Amino acid sequence: METLLEVRNLNKFFKVAAGELRALDNVSFKINKGETLGIVGESGCGKSTLGRVILRLHEPTSGRVLFDGMDITSFSPEEMRQMRRHMQIVFQDPYASLNPRMTISQSIEEPLRVFFPQMREADRRKRIAELMELVGLSARTYNAYPHEFDGGRRQRVAIARTLAVNPKFVVCDEPVSSLDVSVQAQILNLMVELRKRMNLTYIFISHDLSVVKHISDYVGVMYLGRMVEFAPKSEIFKNPLHPYTRALLSAIPSTEANGRERLILEGEITSPINPKPGCRFAPRCPYAREICAEKNIPLLEHSPSHQLACVRSDETIGAPFAYNAPA
Ligand SMILES: Nc1ncnc2c1ncn2[C@@H]1O[C@H](COP(=O)(O)OP(=O)(O)O)[C@@H](O)[C@H]1O
Ligand SMILES: [Mg+2]
Repeated sequence: METLLEVRNLNKFFKVAAGELRALDNVSFKINKGETLGIVGESGCGKSTLGRVILRLHEPTSGRVLFDGMDITSFSPEEMRQMRRHMQIVFQDPYASLNPRMTISQSIEEPLRVFFPQMREADRRKRIAELMELVGLSARTYNAYPHEFDGGRRQRVAIARTLAVNPKFVVCDEPVSSLDVSVQAQILNLMVELRKRMNLTYIFISHDLSVVKHISDYVGVMYLGRMVEFAPKSEIFKNPLHPYTRALLSAIPSTEANGRERLILEGEITSPINPKPGCRFAPRCPYAREICAEKNIPLLEHSPSHQLACVRSDETIGAPFAYNAPA
């Protein structure tokens, strides 16, 4: 398997009035060509920041992003502009990401004009028609405006725009989260199919593990800026090791975890501003011991393909899911 993307010790700290907000804290992983990495975690854990820093829509505070063997963190703005053709993003809200004054075809045409200025008018029209067909939009809607479309079809337009330039890699940042449940599956299926047809590599971000389950090869679980578990999808769903992952899983209806007791998460997600040492999840973890709050718990290899940031797993794995009763 060939690696397409690697991030090494990626940090993104925001300066805020109360101090330093650690949106991404020493995150490292690799993604193979043609595979999908699902990123899950609660709102505010740094998923979007991760996607943006990888594309350098935000500059990293430190760390490296290697794409196709190139260190793109050292690229000049012009080199990065060229690189964006290969690295695209689909956002959550197709209402906000489309220009309401442009027709569907104009929206899809825009990236073609930007990246292929030499392309002839007739070829562009042909390409737009191809792309519309690819994402399941009727040719009759060529001159329609976004407001005439529902959320699902707007997201199809946004996907066509993204794919217009033949990228290799796409960050999908909660692309179905704002859609009606009835159309979520259609868009997910479309994205799975397009990945195969166009040999794409995805980072697929969602706060919802059941969505990630559908599309991912690997899953990374984030908690307050840190990666706490990283493994092949089957491992995450059959053999979740981090108490946080197990809590997320037990909240999904009709998963294996459902038959067991539910792990209810109590307490607020703590602040990523000026974090204390120790495991960020410790304040909410039913298995936490003194050691968890004392030192940083790095993401380490638990078995050859399974990485974990928890020192309590050996004792908790066999244990049933338990309620988070105060100790
Ligand atoms: N531009 C910014 N300035 C300051 N803080 C930010 C900025 N962008 C994101 N954050 C903070 O970084 C953390 C992670 O945000 P985000 O990556 O959007 O999380 P997610 O996508 O997982 O919901 C949050 O605490 C958020 O408030
Ligand atoms: Mg987000």
